[in-house]
Amino acid sequence: MNTKLVQIDENNIDQTSITEAGKVLKSGGLVAFPTETVYGLGGDALQKESSRKIYAAKGRPSDNPLIVHICRWEDIGQIARNIPEFAKKLADAFWPGPLTMILEKTDDVPRETTGGLDTVAVRMPNNKIALALIGAAGGYIAAPSANTSGKPSPTRAEHVVEDMQGRIEMIIDGGPVGIGLESTIIDLTSATPVVLRPGYITREMLEQALGCPVDVDKTILDGNSKQAPKAPGMKYRHYAPKGDLTIVDGKATDVVEMIRKMSAERMAAGERVGIICTDETRGMYNAHCIMSVGARKDEAAIARHLFAILRQFDEEQVTVIYSEAFSDRGLGQAIMNRLLKAAGHHVLYTDKQEGM
Ligand code: TXA
Ligand code: MG
Repeated sequence: MNTKLVQIDENNIDQTSITEAGKVLKSGGLVAFPTETVYGLGGDALQKESSRKIYAAKGRPSDNPLIVHICRWEDIGQIARNIPEFAKKLADAFWPGPLTMILEKTDDVPRETTGGLDTVAVRMPNNKIALALIGAAGGYIAAPSANTSGKPSPTRAEHVVEDMQGRIEMIIDGGPVGIGLESTIIDLTSATPVVLRPGYITREMLEQALGCPVDVDKTILDGNSKQAPKAPGMKYRHYAPKGDLTIVDGKATDVVEMIRKMSAERMAAGERVGIICTDETRGMYNAHCIMSVGARKDEAAIARHLFAILRQFDEEQVTVIYSEAFSDRGLGQAIMNRLLKAAGHHVLYTDKQEGM
């Protein structure tokens, strides 16, 4: 298949390209597009054939449901029912924005879109290109992140081209995304709302908007949990670079020392070593590929850079990667959740001997 690449400026949207992309979606084709979180791989959410094509293009297991993107609150009634008061409150506070809500689905949403579930994930993205495209496509775009299953989510159109060239009809390049990590997912189908995937909208922000406690799925930061995550997609190894990634946690100076020592040993053994660090520690390492996520205090920058760095390591063909651990509070919870998954939960603590 020939994949058409079009550039659209978010601040000066070319309506002709949007109309063309909308037609592709309406006729059952796939279009990748920017959102404020990561690039999405869009198909018409109400056509089961489109959802099947999405799973095929990503190489994604078909029991892993898709998020349906809308552009107007009024449209939610066609795809969700028994919508709780909570949903309107959260929409008022955070939509358009990086929040996905799990609700009961209507019969209009095919089970192909929801991975066989009776619930549907709904989000209104905060990106003008995405909103215009959703409108042009008839109102409902199913869109997972536009990466090959298992790879880090794309934060630039180049990443989408790498993974989807020749597999889909069109890619809209709207420049690099602003947030860089996928939306927060909150389940509103039980009495107490539960965060299933942490993201830019934190638990504290949700509790404040709702005026009540919000639970967090226990599997999010705990690699040893025996429980299955409630978001089916969270059970898969994800975001994984080809190199073997280990996170090192502990006092900052000890972390640097431990990574320095291990890198030297692995390089002496002939490995190509990559390091994920911060601006503060960048100059302290010696390795084939040293990548700073930004200043340690700047969590928004860490979120924005993380996936591109994981992809870069594949390009540099590093075989071993060490990453400094980051704070797991606030937005840090989402950052550490993605990093832990990329590392298959392999963490070394500087104050413990391995194996203890
Ligand atoms: O920021 C985002 O959410 C991006 C952009 C493109 O909007 N999309 C995204 O989609 O990250 P995806 O498919 O890569 O991740 C969707 C996650 C998966 O973990 C999936 O299992 C979960 O949402 N999910 C979808 N529908 C669900 C449902 N009905 N119940 C529980 N989890 C659901
Ligand atoms: Mg994804």
